[in-house]
Amino acid sequence: MDVKDAILGRRSIRRYADKPIPDSAVASLIEAVRWAPSSGNLQARKFYFVFNNDTKTRLAVLALNQMFIATAPLVVVACADYEKIADYGNRGKTLYVIQDVACAAENLLLEAYELGLGSVWVGAFDASGVANALNLPENLMPMAIIPVGYGAHHPKAPEREAKEAIVTILR
Ligand SMILES: Cc1cc2nc3c(=O)[nH]c(=O)nc-3n(C[C@H](O)[C@H](O)[C@H](O)COP(=O)(O)O)c2cc1C
Repeated sequence: MDVKDAILGRRSIRRYADKPIPDSAVASLIEAVRWAPSSGNLQARKFYFVFNNDTKTRLAVLALNQMFIATAPLVVVACADYEKIADYGNRGKTLYVIQDVACAAENLLLEAYELGLGSVWVGAFDASGVANALNLPENLMPMAIIPVGYGAHHPKAPEREAKEAIVTILR
């Protein structure tokens, strides 16, 4: 698949077929997050791949009862690692580590799409509750919850702003 096709065709998928994800696809998703760029190549991020039903349900409740999360066969929790980014001071803590997680998460969404899987970035959740539910060490902060599964709907693309509204070209 062309990168461009993945960028344009990917949609947020919130309904999933009752079908497991093959191990080979899970391995590809792991490679997708692993090879994302990161500040100073510090890779200040960690991903929890959650298959356990009770944990998925807890995550869905903590995500303001977005219960579709619990119906996905896999729920990925993307975390920032504040210990690994410590050498980069304030900018590392307030900017780089968030960007490190975000670009790896986008890689995951695009790779999922290439594999025929649906996913959605969920940002609305109780972060300290999620940290508790996953028993995270102090240095990790959950930044995104990403349910992944074979899609059971085909949403239309939500509109995007006009190019002129989002890009300023300086020549
Ligand atoms: C930072 C961030 C937070 C988001 N949080 C949620 C969320 O809590 N629940 C949800 O259903 N979708 C969430 N989304 C998905 C957006 O609603 C979705 O990407 C947007 O509507 C555009 O649709 P598309 O992904 O199909 O292009 C989030 C996306 C981002 C990038």
